[in-house]
Amino acid sequence: MNKQFYITTAIDYTNGAPHLGHAYEKVVTDTIARARRSLGQETFFLTGVDEHGQKVQQAAQAEGKSPKAYCDELAVIWKGLATTLGLTNNDFVRTTDERHKRVVGAILSKLHQQGDLYKDSHTGFYSVREETFLTEKDRNPDGTWDPKWGQVIELKEDNWYFKMGKHQQWLIGYIESTPSFVQPDYRRNEVLGFLKSQPLEDLCITRPASRLSWGIPLPFDPEFVTYVWFDALTNYITVPASLGDPAVCGPLGLATNNHQPSTSLWPADIHVIGKDIVKFHAVYWPIMLHAAGIALPKQILAHGWWQKDGTKMSKTTGNVVEPTAVINEWGLDAFRFYVLRELDIGPDGNWTDAGFKARYQAELANGLGNLVNRSLSMLKRYRDGTVPAPANDLSTDAARAIADVCGQLERNELQAALQSIWTLITRANQFVDQTAPFKLAKDPAQAQRLDEVLYNLVETCRIIAVLLWPFLPTTSCRINEQLGLTGAPDQFTGVHWGGLKQGHAIGAPAPLFPRKEP
Ligand code: MSP
Repeated sequence: MNKQFYITTAIDYTNGAPHLGHAYEKVVTDTIARARRSLGQETFFLTGVDEHGQKVQQAAQAEGKSPKAYCDELAVIWKGLATTLGLTNNDFVRTTDERHKRVVGAILSKLHQQGDLYKDSHTGFYSVREETFLTEKDRNPDGTWDPKWGQVIELKEDNWYFKMGKHQQWLIGYIESTPSFVQPDYRRNEVLGFLKSQPLEDLCITRPASRLSWGIPLPFDPEFVTYVWFDALTNYITVPASLGDPAVCGPLGLATNNHQPSTSLWPADIHVIGKDIVKFHAVYWPIMLHAAGIALPKQILAHGWWQKDGTKMSKTTGNVVEPTAVINEWGLDAFRFYVLRELDIGPDGNWTDAGFKARYQAELANGLGNLVNRSLSMLKRYRDGTVPAPANDLSTDAARAIADVCGQLERNELQAALQSIWTLITRANQFVDQTAPFKLAKDPAQAQRLDEVLYNLVETCRIIAVLLWPFLPTTSCRINEQLGLTGAPDQFTGVHWGGLKQGHAIGAPAPLFPRKEP
């Protein structure tokens, strides 16, 4: 059975409209997925939405809609975002899907049968906004509750608990012996610090249906619905289970699908998530899987958070970046380029409109756009668009860029890979300035040198189109098309120098990144 490279995003709460942070995570994940495919790996990319829980129930109430009707409307918007961002996701999971509820039921039943769950009563202070009981440690020094908790009420209630504490030492050992499990390293250190500093409490995995009806009922106690995080984390095994993947179906006692015996996704290779939800993914999720006898994902990859103009994005102050608005004005690839080039996976980033425009102008319009446009236009003008015999002046630079980018993409170093591509773009632009083909064209004695220069330029453009595919898929295809090549340049195999053959006719050049007036 062929194990596919399986990569996921966090699933977004559908209690509002998508913003830059959500879009960024999707673009990062899509770029890694495309890169793996370009590197020749069969890849399955999953994204989706997190629809249960108090936040969504409250958002629906505020609009006077039933949670289901509200979620159906929002699902259209969030699926639309995936299309707007050019995502190559293979499936889109909704936690209201029947296939998902079935898997949540199965994992809960297994843990219950094994004696990993127990019912207990608890009195305490509860944050309505964060849907969590607070501890004394969460209080301010003066005894008040921080406004970030929203309304805090005193509650006594029965709930079901998951015996998580007993897995603490195992998890510490696992994370210590598997450095790649949580990345970057500083997030791994935070998780280890957290796990070593205090006993891990058992996890409350239900909410009384009387207080919160919008959730998945417990299969063995209908008075309770499943805690939204237990429900949401399970999404990652929902699709493998529904495709009959034995790595999930076996431990959960679900039927494997005999019609698709070739599908094997689990364990996930990478869960891409934001830094705020590392604990859920690096502590709760591995323990849930370990207790259920399911293999752990290979990596939790945590990205940083975006601010705008140095402050937190907030709808109330209007300080937000709306990805769709940016894309409508500047194009999808300009958006993808800015977020991937500006911010490495890990640290926090800061969006400024001035920074966005500066990168558009310098790197896209003047760098990439200018190289492609002048290379192709000169070939049209001086050689009627016909590719001359191969020449090698830039072949070493191109080979270095190919090797660097492939290595960087295998390590998910997206920002560094873009820098490597731009090193080649800058080199080729310098080559134009150094060789001055417009002067060569005036001197018939230099005809052969002009052929050589033009070959170097168009062949470099062809290679750049292949290297750009994971990052800027629209631009990559447009370059290919202008080169008169068919199909998407989506495979790194065979991307070596000399692909363009003598006598090949290129298409019509057209600007890739039109200049915008200030
Ligand atoms: N529903 C949970 C995730 C469940 S995964 C099993 C959730 N949803 S969320 O909508 O609040 O966030 C979704 C993702 O967007 C998270 O990974 C989060 O870190 C990311 N971001 C939200 N705001 C962000 C920024 N300002 N910047 C970058 N990413 C941010 O958490």
